[in-house]
Amino acid sequence: MTRLLVLFCFFSLSPLLVKPLSLSLNDDVLGLIVFKADVQDPTGKLASWDEDDDSACGWAGVKCNSRSNQVVELNLDGFSLSGRLGRGLLQLKSLRKLSLAKNNLTGSINANFARLDNLRILDLSENGLSGSVPDELFQQCGSLKSVSFARNKLSGEIPKSLTRCSSLVSLNLSSNQFSGPLPEGIWSLSAIRVLDLSRNALEDGINESIQRMKNLRALTLKGNRMYGAVPGGIGSCLLLRSIDLSENSFSGSLPDTFSQLTLCNYLDLHGNSFSGEIPESIGEVRALETLDLSDNAFSGKLPTSLGNLVSLKVLNLSGNSLSGPLPESMSSCQSLQVADFSWNSFTGGLPDWIFKGRLQELQTLDLSSNFFTNQIPTDFGDLSGLQFLNLSNNSLTGSVPKGIGMLKKIDVLDLSDNRLNGSIPSEVGGAGSLKELWLQNNELTGNIPASMDKCYSLTTLLLSHNYLSGPIPSSMSRLGNLQIVDLSYNNLSGSLPKQLANLAHLLTFNISHNQLQGQLPLGGFFNTISPSSVSENPSLCGAPVNRSCPGVLPKPIVLNPNSTGDTVSGSFPPPLGRKRIILSISALIAIGAAGMIVIGVIAITVLNLRVQSISASRSAAALTFSGVGDELFSESPGTDANSGKLVMFSTVDPDFSTGAHALLNKDCELGRGGFGAVYRTILRDDHPVAIKKLTVSSLVKSQDDFEREVKKLGKVRHPNIVALEGYYWTPSLQLLISEFVSGGSLYKHLHEASAGDSKSSLSWNDRFNIILGTAKGLAHLHQTNIIHYNIKSSNVLIDSSSGDPKVADFGLARLLPMLDRYVLSSKIQSALGYMAPEFACRTVKITEKCDVYGFGVLVLEIVAGKRPVEYMEDDVVVLCEMVRGSLEDGRVEECVDGELKGNYPAEEAIPVMKLGLICTSQVPSNRPDMAEVVKILELIRCPSEGMEEELV
Ligand SMILES: *[C@@H]1O[C@H](CO)[C@@H](O)[C@H](O)[C@H]1NC(C)=O
Ligand SMILES: *[C@@H]1O[C@H](CO)[C@@H](O)[C@H](O)[C@H]1NC(C)=O
Ligand SMILES: *[C@@H]1O[C@H](CO)[C@@H](O)[C@H](O)[C@H]1NC(C)=O
Ligand SMILES: *[C@@H]1O[C@H](CO)[C@@H](O)[C@H](O)[C@H]1NC(C)=O
Ligand SMILES: *[C@@H]1O[C@H](CO)[C@@H](O)[C@H](O)[C@H]1NC(C)=O
Repeated sequence: MTRLLVLFCFFSLSPLLVKPLSLSLNDDVLGLIVFKADVQDPTGKLASWDEDDDSACGWAGVKCNSRSNQVVELNLDGFSLSGRLGRGLLQLKSLRKLSLAKNNLTGSINANFARLDNLRILDLSENGLSGSVPDELFQQCGSLKSVSFARNKLSGEIPKSLTRCSSLVSLNLSSNQFSGPLPEGIWSLSAIRVLDLSRNALEDGINESIQRMKNLRALTLKGNRMYGAVPGGIGSCLLLRSIDLSENSFSGSLPDTFSQLTLCNYLDLHGNSFSGEIPESIGEVRALETLDLSDNAFSGKLPTSLGNLVSLKVLNLSGNSLSGPLPESMSSCQSLQVADFSWNSFTGGLPDWIFKGRLQELQTLDLSSNFFTNQIPTDFGDLSGLQFLNLSNNSLTGSVPKGIGMLKKIDVLDLSDNRLNGSIPSEVGGAGSLKELWLQNNELTGNIPASMDKCYSLTTLLLSHNYLSGPIPSSMSRLGNLQIVDLSYNNLSGSLPKQLANLAHLLTFNISHNQLQGQLPLGGFFNTISPSSVSENPSLCGAPVNRSCPGVLPKPIVLNPNSTGDTVSGSFPPPLGRKRIILSISALIAIGAAGMIVIGVIAITVLNLRVQSISASRSAAALTFSGVGDELFSESPGTDANSGKLVMFSTVDPDFSTGAHALLNKDCELGRGGFGAVYRTILRDDHPVAIKKLTVSSLVKSQDDFEREVKKLGKVRHPNIVALEGYYWTPSLQLLISEFVSGGSLYKHLHEASAGDSKSSLSWNDRFNIILGTAKGLAHLHQTNIIHYNIKSSNVLIDSSSGDPKVADFGLARLLPMLDRYVLSSKIQSALGYMAPEFACRTVKITEKCDVYGFGVLVLEIVAGKRPVEYMEDDVVVLCEMVRGSLEDGRVEECVDGELKGNYPAEEAIPVMKLGLICTSQVPSNRPDMAEVVKILELIRCPSEGMEEELV
């Protein structure tokens, strides 16, 4: 290595000194070692290059002449080298080929390369080279045959000296930033076969002397600012196979001499300003496979000679001013795969020759935005290979042909913006691979065919602005790939199939301006559907249309709190900050909606009777059972909804006689959640309990499953967990009885502090204790294999005496028959902002890490005193993102709740916020588990506690 360093220093500083110092060294070895020292080789591709070797011939990428043992080729394509092109290579006097393509070389190209006078091939393409190319580079380039600088960042003009390279066969300067005119004489490089100057900013015309380029095979000038007419001389380049002049400003008409280019199979002139008619002589270019004249100003009729182009595969005439009918002769173009005639002024009926089925290779046919009239031929013949058919924006009449069912490979079918009438044929179901069906803006009538459910790949269904009637078929909910559905402006009626909520990929579902009625589907996309997508359906109900559904959603009424306040038992502090009581009809009758009144009252009465009989005759048994918690106290079985079973896990006297009063009292509702309403009541021994009535009755599992799960939940005992004390079960009514926590929910403490009482806000110490306690509670749940699923601030209750948090409502998702994500997310939709991202992703298993996410959001909520998602005037602020952004900007302290008035230790608050952010990592495995969270929190807290102890 020292030898290398010494050599390298001398060499770099003064190349002239090197020779005398290293006479014994092989020049090639020296040059390559110096080259190696100049570049970074992160993948070790040059590991075999050892400066102690006498010869470089065995090294990776190096080829020698077998007789002279001199390096003649260096091929380092894709070696991942970065750095600059040093001078080392100049030592390789015999080098004929230098290929360094697809590396990360930077800096400019050194003029000294000109000294490599044996060089034939120079390929520096696909690097990061920049600056202008020095004119000296090509001063003496007698033997250079191929030069590629493609895909670098070279700029300036193309050096004039290049025109001296009279033996140049291939020049590729594409995808750089070369600008200005071309060097005069470039069109005289008569040996050249491939000239690629595409994707630069060159401004020049094509000189008439192009006629001297008799060897030219490929001319690519695409994506420059070239202008002027194409000189007729181009017709002398008889070997031309590929011409790409697209995306320039060429103008004028096509020279007739094109007809001499009989070998040309690729002609792309799109995106210029060519005008005039397409010359009849185009038919002479028989080899043509691709003819793209799109986006020009060609006009007049199509020449019938197009029919001579029997090899034509791709024809794009889109975006011109062509008119008249499509010539019948084109039925001979039987190799045609792509035919785009869109955006012209073609007239007449749809050409028979297309639909008669002689074009069996056709995959793409676009006749849109013309003036085609008449009907679509009913028979699609053998167009069974068609993948894309666009006839939109014409004046087609008649009906949608049944033949579309024959299009077995069709992806996109667009017949929109015509005057089609009749109904959508049920044969559409035969087009099984259809992804996009566009039929909007026609005069279609009849129903949406149910057979459409066979088009399982459908992502886009646009039927708006027609006269379709009847219901939306429920089979549509089986099209699980649907993303964009527009059925607006029709006469659709009936109610919406509930199962539509199962469509997991919906982005748009517009049913506005119809006659639909009944309730909007709940859950999934429909929870966030925009009001404009459902407007103007006079009988539709549900939250998005701002109209409640009769008998389904309770009507809210505001009660005078003064008139009911007295029924609150003295042991019940009124919930914090509660100013008016908004209750629903269902709350007034305490249990269930209108239809449930009788059953509810009876259920409670029976419940009481049962309980009384328990205490009267079997209290010992009941107590035994409750103590053990295994043996069930079972009631006489009955199918009647009124006979139920009460089970208490603890030894409390389960007397509901006062409870019944409380249950029926409208003022005893504590709150509502996704799983039901909660009421408070007091047992005979003044033991207060909270009773949750599950509103998801219909979803609850069988009695056995229900009891097994509840008993499992009932075994959880932890100071930071709300204890589940018992349950009551009938097939139609399930109550969960749990410990009553007096201080109200954390949500109320954080967000509903009463205005008159600003002192009620939590201190930093309170907040930290709540975070730590909640973490401990969750860690305990996870330890017993229970996922909470619904962690949020309204499910963390605060004990008013100790200030300790208690986690409530855990594991209720287990009571549902299946952990269906749809059910889950619609049941806990109120937990907006807490829901871990994996809930949206069907393929990711939901683990306890979803609680960690919710906990992370909760932490940020507690520290910032802001809701996870705040709706501002015209903005939605997502708390995690805001804190994350502030942390990145170093302003994280601004996120701490202003209520704390700076009264907090930053050395605790900032790590706690960072912890919150880690818990809200998008990837579940990146989140710590709750046990780790507890440890981290204790570490964050410890130092200051230690200090306090020292101070005391
Ligand atoms: C160039 O470098 C970038 C990072 O600097 C790397 O991602 C890329 O793969 C490299 N390209 C090649 C061709 O080595
Ligand atoms: C020019 O080089 C680029 C990049 O290596 C390559 O993609 C392109 O095909 C070349 N042009 C011709 C006409 O060979
Ligand atoms: C074409 O090139 C010749 C020199 O090769 C020059 O004299 C002539 O002006 C050029 N013509 C155009 C139209 O640029
Ligand atoms: C035809 O050309 C237009 C404009 O260049 C382009 O947008 C369109 O995609 C092309 N059609 C096909 C079928 O490739
Ligand atoms: C309720 O009582 C308070 C005082 O006890 C009174 O100020 C308030 O106006 C009463 N509200 C109603 C609606 O009567």
